Amino acid sequence: MNFEFTEEQLMIRQAARDFAQRDLITDVIERDYKAEYPTKHVKTMSELGFMGMMMDPKYEGGGMDTVSYVLAMEEISKVDSSVSVIMSVNNSLVCYGINKYGTEEQKQKYLPDLATGRKIGAFLLSEPEAGSDATMQRTTAEDKGDYYLVNGTKNWITNAHSGSIYILIAQTHPEKKHHGINAFILEKDTPGISLGPHEDKMGMRSSDTHSVMFTDVKVPRENRIGEDGFGFKFAMKTLEAGRIGIAAQALGLASGALERSIQYAKERKAFGTEIANHQAIAFKIAEMAVKVENARNLCLKAAWLKDNKKPFAIASSMAKQYCADIAMEVTTEAVQIHGGYGYVKEYHVERLMREAKLTQIYEGTSEIQKIVISRTLLRD
Ligand code: CAA
Repeated sequence: MNFEFTEEQLMIRQAARDFAQRDLITDVIERDYKAEYPTKHVKTMSELGFMGMMMDPKYEGGGMDTVSYVLAMEEISKVDSSVSVIMSVNNSLVCYGINKYGTEEQKQKYLPDLATGRKIGAFLLSEPEAGSDATMQRTTAEDKGDYYLVNGTKNWITNAHSGSIYILIAQTHPEKKHHGINAFILEKDTPGISLGPHEDKMGMRSSDTHSVMFTDVKVPRENRIGEDGFGFKFAMKTLEAGRIGIAAQALGLASGALERSIQYAKERKAFGTEIANHQAIAFKIAEMAVKVENARNLCLKAAWLKDNKKPFAIASSMAKQYCADIAMEVTTEAVQIHGGYGYVKEYHVERLMREAKLTQIYEGTSEIQKIVISRTLLRD
């Protein structure tokens, strides 16, 4: 086993760290408070090549590996998960899905804009009654020959407003249940698409989340991804890859909280000495560090398996479940270590704790990951 990163991977990590610590940190608290979209930071992130990191350079992508993507996601998420979720959905759901399952025409048409951040992508799977139970798609895509006619509502869509290229999952043959579902690439300015209001979220407040409504929206037939009825498998396969990104985001939340806790414990004095000298604090720091290290190893293993074309579905679910759960634990402990200061915005850890909660919910809850892991183990 080789635990060393390559020169290139280290450079990418440093570039992400510099971007986060130089740019994002300056206004992250204010943007979170105002729930303000990070327009200028998304532009910088695009110029740095972080919006299509793993795409082939022939589609104007960065040609980087998944390990580099995990390293960059961790660094950015230490400071600002609103920005990293925009990056994650674009990279590992939208770009990945089109690149892996799209036709050459679809790739040429959509990937260059997405991979450079000229356009942003969104992934429209969840519905008011189809969250964890993704098979229950009620949005319909009626086959009309040259086009599909889409009607329905999608919920909790990251990048719904800022994005202009949508991947839409919808039901074409209800009698076939999940075997009747299709996936499509759709441009947001197509007539008949409207958005609900910005969701006023507990965390990741400056990423844009909306419902999206479809009324008689025509999607050209050539925009379907894969064979008729491939949509549910497409969604599941794409989520397998996407979960590595959210695992790395959760890792970043935990490692960011750990770093802040170490710094605070060395500065803050109580009972005549720095609180780091009290075992009550030192042991917490040790336990947090072990969890962060385990989480990092799970993330990097899932990324390495994917890069080496080995099966990574269980590994990505394990990484997603563990990283999200320890992100919640570690950020909560960070607030405890900071005491009253941890409960106010200036010290960042209360925000990290609010953001960590979302990683246990989206791209499949922690419970869904346990279903995926246990079913695979028990079936084999
Ligand atoms: N790869 C390929 N096929 C898969 C698959 C996978 N990973 N997982 C399931 N399937 C197939 C099964 O083989 C089965 O096919 P057959 O009927 O042909 O045998 C079919 O799909 C149904 O599978 P299950 O019986 O396992 O389905 P289920 O309903 O019991 O469970 C689930 C499926 C795992 C719970 C799934 O619905 C799921 O992952 N739900 C969570 C959805 C989710 O992650 N949503 C995230 C939204 S995106 C988001 O959050 C983005 C963002 O904004 C950040």
